[in-house]
Amino acid sequence: MTDSLGQRHAELAEAIRRHDRAYYVEAKPTISDREYDQIYRELLDLEAAHRELRTPDSPSQRVGGEPIDGFETVRHAVPMMSLDNTYSQEEVSEFVERVHKLLPGEPLDWVVEPKADGIAISLRYEDGQFTIGATRGDGVAGDDVTANLRTIRSIPLRLRPLGQEDVLEVFEARGEVIMTRSGFEKLNRAREAEGQPLFANPRNATAGSLKQLDSSLVAKRPLDIVLYGSGEMAGGPEVNSQLGLFDVLGQLGFRTPNHTWHCKNIEEVLAAVEELDRIRGGFDYDTDGAVIKLNRFDLRERVGATAKAPRWAMAYKYAPEQVQTRLTAITIQVGRTGTLTPVAELEPVFVDGSTISRATLHNEEELGRKDIRIGDTVIIEKRGDVIPGVISVVKDLRPAGTEPFDMLAVTGSQCPECGGAINKDKEFVAWRCVNTDCPAQAAQRLEHFAARTALDVDCLGDIVSDKLVERQLAGNPLDLFDLTVEQLGPLNLGTDDEPRMFGEKNATKLVDSVERARTMGLDRWLFGLAIPEMGRTIAGSLAKFHDDLPAVAASPLLRDVIALDEKVAETVRINPRSRNNRPKSDADKVERERQYKSLVSEISRTLDGLVALGFAKISKENGDHPPNYTTEVGPSAARSVLAWFGSNTGRATLERLAKLGINPRGDRQSGGGVFDGKTFVITGTLPGMSREEAKAVIEANGGKTTGSISKKTDYLLAGEKVGSKLAKAESLGLAILDEPTFLRMCER
Ligand code: IVH
Repeated sequence: MTDSLGQRHAELAEAIRRHDRAYYVEAKPTISDREYDQIYRELLDLEAAHRELRTPDSPSQRVGGEPIDGFETVRHAVPMMSLDNTYSQEEVSEFVERVHKLLPGEPLDWVVEPKADGIAISLRYEDGQFTIGATRGDGVAGDDVTANLRTIRSIPLRLRPLGQEDVLEVFEARGEVIMTRSGFEKLNRAREAEGQPLFANPRNATAGSLKQLDSSLVAKRPLDIVLYGSGEMAGGPEVNSQLGLFDVLGQLGFRTPNHTWHCKNIEEVLAAVEELDRIRGGFDYDTDGAVIKLNRFDLRERVGATAKAPRWAMAYKYAPEQVQTRLTAITIQVGRTGTLTPVAELEPVFVDGSTISRATLHNEEELGRKDIRIGDTVIIEKRGDVIPGVISVVKDLRPAGTEPFDMLAVTGSQCPECGGAINKDKEFVAWRCVNTDCPAQAAQRLEHFAARTALDVDCLGDIVSDKLVERQLAGNPLDLFDLTVEQLGPLNLGTDDEPRMFGEKNATKLVDSVERARTMGLDRWLFGLAIPEMGRTIAGSLAKFHDDLPAVAASPLLRDVIALDEKVAETVRINPRSRNNRPKSDADKVERERQYKSLVSEISRTLDGLVALGFAKISKENGDHPPNYTTEVGPSAARSVLAWFGSNTGRATLERLAKLGINPRGDRQSGGGVFDGKTFVITGTLPGMSREEAKAVIEANGGKTTGSISKKTDYLLAGEKVGSKLAKAESLGLAILDEPTFLRMCER
């Protein structure tokens, strides 16, 4: 190949990129389709003759490749969080006020954007080349759908260069894959003509397209993308704000929302939200709300995030569709922890793009509050992805002779699955089946154990789980470790009349992936064991702070959380200024004041330890009263987790794991120490060790020490006779540790 051919190829590729951008991103094509096709054809011909020109970032590589077996899971470099939602403008105002309170004295500005109703994805670029595109998944890890995303023309395969000095090493753009309404209509018309089932709405069509294993089929779907966020960024220009991010996204060649509003106060925010609602009908893609974001990134960092969502953003959802139908029966479902959930069986109705025949009723209390009865005409509502719910009853249409719902009467005081006893804990609103051998629970526990975000066991869905329990091959997830391919291969998943064998291939996959589960981390195990109240986030937090399962079972942190909760409740009870419980005499008042003070100082001491470890955050100091705080794991979950480990099931599980030789490790064990990546400054004379010793301890635990305090410092280790450093650390709001606290942190 001569250089001139290479050069011609580069020119063609660049021209195609330019025209793609003009057409797909800017919606302003500069050449006719025919001219475009000519250039494209020349590029394909050149590549056919010189295969080495067919590089992965060539525009020809969008057509889609060979079908694949399934998607790989990719872990997001920065988790993809979701947003807190509201349907009330009042809550939007409260949100804005809340952020103001967290950032006293700061003038704040906001960006209001359309909430695109599509599928969230992350696009990763390394040295300007598109490397990985993934769905959000559970926020921590998603599906690698790179091949499918490459077929979307508005996704640049290579970023446009910024300035010379701005070398973008890593750039993750985040946004929403959508299908335009016009593209969706066209697709459905074509499917109708071919006798294929129709998609209910553009969002479903988008989700269905991204899940295709054959990217050459995806290339034919009218997908598009809007970008509004970022993940990991390394190198390149500093991005300080949402508006700055939009600017950079635009320069790099991405499509950003066509309409955004920059607002200075709540009035402007609400006006923007309303204006968006007026004009969004004219957009060429579906939107279901407005997203309100704090503009400045430094302020975002200061307000932080809860476990699931940032505190600096909120989604306001426009009113969802409601319809009326009749509730024909109430059935009871048994969940994996034995919870009995009432379910409304409905006369089927069409709402928001799909037919609904069931809705959740949450729990008995909710049923009672809304006074929902069998035979009632009810209003149901579907909000996006959420399971439809019953909003209210049309009392005027209630037939004669209905009875209020009564769980005990409906179930005959028995679990509908196993006939075992049911019980309502004082602490929970839900009824539970107390029989841990209940097959419904057992099957759901197996399925839960096998979930991708738990122990990721292949070929173990609901049908196989049900069968394993029914055939008594596995009643509990740890039984899976005893199963063999010989046992599983002939398992009949069908009926005697119509047998359907599990098969050796699937059996091997299952057994192999069960083996793989042995070495999975503590977070996945904690989540997979179906401990009541143990969600992914709590499991993740616990794994960060504990070495293994026995450490969680005996966790001093969880005990501290419970003790704190009890002590705070006690301060409320004995508060000498309590209106409900006034002191009986002056002497009583004095005594209660003393007790109150001592409790507050006990609370502060416990809390300081937890804060120093990063397990708790103080949101507000309250002077002589207990501060407002949050802990990584709340008191109710802490109680539930310790109760489970103390129960027969919990103890038996730990014993069995030990026998199986399985000892899942927490993040600290598999990673480094408690101070991984943290920077210390030491000041003053430490009572029990020299500075050199302290430095060695810090380094042994993954941290480092520097001489002077800056914003980058994480901890000040302060001894006696401290100088100006203490004041500076305080003014910067750094964590200040004394020697005992520091040593305690190293022990855990
Ligand atoms: S920001 C950490 N902006 O809404 C903040 N999300 O309900 C992450 N979405 O998962 C999201 N349009 O899929 C943001 N302009 C927008 C959005 C948007 C749609 C989706 C996104 C997210 C979901 C949260």
